[in-house]
Amino acid sequence: MSQGGTVPVLVLREGTGRSTGREAQKNNIMAAKIVAETVKSTLGPCGMDKMLVTSFGDVAITNDGATIMKELDVQHPAAKMLVEVAKAQDAEVGDGTTTAVVLAGELLSKAESLLDKNVHPTIIIEGYKKASEKAQEILSKLAIPVKLTDEKTLLDVAITSLASKGISNAKELFAKMAVDAVKQVSEESDGKMTADIDLIKVVKKHGKSLEETELVKGMVIDKEVASSQMPKVVDGAKIALLNAKIEIEKTEFDAKINIESPDQMKSFLDEEERMLKEMTTAITKTGANVVLCEKGIDDMALHFLGKAGVLAVKSVSSSDMEKLSRATGGKILSSIKDLTADSLGKAKKVEEVKIGNDKLIYIRDCKNPKAVTIVIRGGSDHVIDEAERSLHDALCVIRNVVEDGKIVAGGGAPEAELAKELRKYANKVGGREQLAVEAFAEAVEAIPLTLAENAGLDPIDVMVALRAKHEDAGNKFFGIDVTTGKIVNMCDMLVLEPLRVKQQVIKSATEAANMILKIDDVISIKGTGGKAPPMPSGMPGGMGGMGGMGGMPY
Ligand SMILES: Nc1ncnc2c1ncn2[C@@H]1O[C@H](COP(=O)(O)OP(=O)(O)OP(=O)(O)O)[C@@H](O)[C@H]1O
Ligand SMILES: [Mg+2]
Repeated sequence: MSQGGTVPVLVLREGTGRSTGREAQKNNIMAAKIVAETVKSTLGPCGMDKMLVTSFGDVAITNDGATIMKELDVQHPAAKMLVEVAKAQDAEVGDGTTTAVVLAGELLSKAESLLDKNVHPTIIIEGYKKASEKAQEILSKLAIPVKLTDEKTLLDVAITSLASKGISNAKELFAKMAVDAVKQVSEESDGKMTADIDLIKVVKKHGKSLEETELVKGMVIDKEVASSQMPKVVDGAKIALLNAKIEIEKTEFDAKINIESPDQMKSFLDEEERMLKEMTTAITKTGANVVLCEKGIDDMALHFLGKAGVLAVKSVSSSDMEKLSRATGGKILSSIKDLTADSLGKAKKVEEVKIGNDKLIYIRDCKNPKAVTIVIRGGSDHVIDEAERSLHDALCVIRNVVEDGKIVAGGGAPEAELAKELRKYANKVGGREQLAVEAFAEAVEAIPLTLAENAGLDPIDVMVALRAKHEDAGNKFFGIDVTTGKIVNMCDMLVLEPLRVKQQVIKSATEAANMILKIDDVISIKGTGGKAPPMPSGMPGGMGGMGGMGGMPY
């Protein structure tokens, strides 16, 4: 290109890194595959855990795909896209992050073989899109309906999601709590169920063991009783929720009061006391015996409330107040004057509990609370943190099932069925896209393959048996029993997952793989803080790479 002594034209700033065409694709695919490979060993009930150490020396031990991906300080732009896949999966459905990343990696690796056979990326992308749409169709046919009243099945779904987590010895307890908590916060409107899991507060407290973890049908707030004169326990609580100060309002501007005699001083103080007394009587008059206040409470007011046997807590956070309102059925009022007996929330018991060095307020046994709390206990912070992440997955899967009312069998069964059906579909697609659909089918099989591999089974033997079993249309729920290596009905094994998780896995993995395949030019601009992706060695510039841009000086 630059023959005949032509002066090279500098388009990009000196030092800009660039890789184009096949070289760029190969780089990106390689990076994404490495990331997928990293999380692969954590997949499934026999998957291993990762220990992540941050530059500050903080240690996290986890099996959670989303956490691993978030903590990995990935530099390569294509690898970062896989991190995004995990994040999207986590945000949308809460579980299946490892599966999504492994599938995305596998789709790219199969695409690489097609690229080597000179299949154009656009054809692969189109084929993958078609396969992904078909996969959604197949999945909906595999779905098994569940009712919200079918508690046993909900429990099994929660247990399946907890199976691969480090808390497996407390998994029944956690599953039960997750089901109870989600059922408590789910609501029906226009014949549709919704469950907002943000209404389930999770409190972590060091000490005791995971088995001591408790679901409180009410709220637990990280505060203490405002005064020592107050009771620490109130039974049959009637709770005033206030968003107003129980203090004398201070003026915004400076005011000066000239007091000339002790009498005046006394009457001034008396007046203050009278006003506070008035406020507290307005509260106690309604029958309230607990006051939870978002703002401050004057010492004198605390004294009056304490004398009346009221338990008061001040400076409660606004997010807690909202949940308290949903849990107790009380109204949050911004003026004491508006307080009535009707606006009070109710709970069987309100008490201050000391855990270790911390004091917590428990608002227990509310009647049909629409917000609940789970207090996680555990011997070490690592255990508690992993328990919290696992609980998040369990809450999400139950939410998914409650909202959709649909599940699928797990243990590689849906993937085996997808592979079989997609292969059939590939013949109909025809042309070069057929190759891509077939590649998609093969990529999906990586999930049962990895499950088997992680369980110490022979992946080839298992795959052959699984494929053979799925040839028979009646065996669509058959998957891998990881303990025996046999192919059995996963519904009998009670390995069940939400349909939504599997749907999202296909969606997010295909999107990421296609996005990476569409890139044929990586330009890393120097000085913007972004690091250049590693350039493969042995590809000197000017040698006329595949993209035809290799000779361009930059
Ligand atoms: N008892 C079991 N037997 C066989 N397979 C199981 C069993 N329990 C779970 N699985 C399978 O394990 C896979 C889920 O594994 P895992 O929870 O480690 O990954 P993930 O859900 O993709 O990611 P993460 O939970 O980290 O977000 C699913 O395919 C599920 O069907
Ligand atoms: Mg999982």
